[in-house]
Amino acid sequence: MSGPLILGIETSCDETGVGIVRGHDLLANEVASSVEEHVRFGGVVPEVASRAHLEAMLPTLERACATADIDLTEVDAIAVTAGPGLVGALVVGLSSAKALAYALNKPLYGVNHLAGHVAVDLLDHGALPSPCAALLVSGGHTSLLTVEDMASKITELGSTIDDAAGEAYDKVARLIGLPYPGGPHIDRAAADGDPTAIAFPRGLSTSRDLIKHRFDFSFSGLKTAVARWVEERRLDGRDVPVADVAASFQEAVCDVLSAKAMDACRATGATDLLIGGGVAANGRLRALLAERAAENKITLRTPRPALCTDNGAMIAALGAEVVSRGLRPSGFDLGADPGLPVSTIVV
Ligand code: KG4
Ligand code: ZN
Repeated sequence: MSGPLILGIETSCDETGVGIVRGHDLLANEVASSVEEHVRFGGVVPEVASRAHLEAMLPTLERACATADIDLTEVDAIAVTAGPGLVGALVVGLSSAKALAYALNKPLYGVNHLAGHVAVDLLDHGALPSPCAALLVSGGHTSLLTVEDMASKITELGSTIDDAAGEAYDKVARLIGLPYPGGPHIDRAAADGDPTAIAFPRGLSTSRDLIKHRFDFSFSGLKTAVARWVEERRLDGRDVPVADVAASFQEAVCDVLSAKAMDACRATGATDLLIGGGVAANGRLRALLAERAAENKITLRTPRPALCTDNGAMIAALGAEVVSRGLRPSGFDLGADPGLPVSTIVV
């Protein structure tokens, strides 16, 4: 094993993540999720998430050190998510990382959460070719990126203009009576449904849309179409075929995501496509991407599902890249930036 020993802290949403890596080797990835506390609200409640991070931080840190079998004094640097994310949640991670860096006299790096979703794949599949395309799909983000250099050059080709893909899964699940978070439930329900049963719209996919929004996504029209379809059915006094609605909705999402990801590879000359974020665990998305990637001779890089959802190892993996390049540490005045653009990899 070689490379710097990095502690990574992630608190941008509802997962308190602490990861430890040495270069491209994963030593620990401990995650405490507050998702159960948000279930009854049908979405993440920022104040509840912040408090849960406070409570989970020390036990999660202790578990990570025990799993990696290291003492905190051994780490070379501390990396922490500076944004994008929920401001109150980010502040808990930043304060913890600053306290550790100060007490241990170690360099501190504030890094970009979205870039972390890309960097985590280094732990599973090693160095990235350049350029590499990346599709990030979660409850909070849906973006298509080109990665020319993991530590210094990431460009956003497009992103959602309304709901994130995971958010659409969560809202549609609610409409058809499935629990929060809806993604895994729709994924399972869809397995028994017919994806061609209902022709739901593919957002921003007409030739006119593509002129201005070639690499952008929109899922709010799809969500409304599902809501209307379900409502009409109920008004007619007929049952809602949950499996068919789930499968048809999922097909519309995965069709658009995979078509635009393939187009991004074509446009940038990328031979590899990396996927990340909670929705990257979706069975149909993985299958459709694999099929279309094979047709287009693109190598698909899919990190293991536990590394696709928010975690600390992704921040540690990005920290290791940044430290290896000898980039300057962030100052102690480092602040949370809820809207940090993906092009700012280190703050
Ligand atoms: O990356 P993540 O854990 O947290 C952030 O939002 O940053 O992603 C959570 C999202 C939720 O919207 C959830 O419904 C969705 O990922 N998700 C899925 C699946 N597993 C999780 N969506 C579709 N299919 C899945 N199997
Ligand atoms: Zn994320």
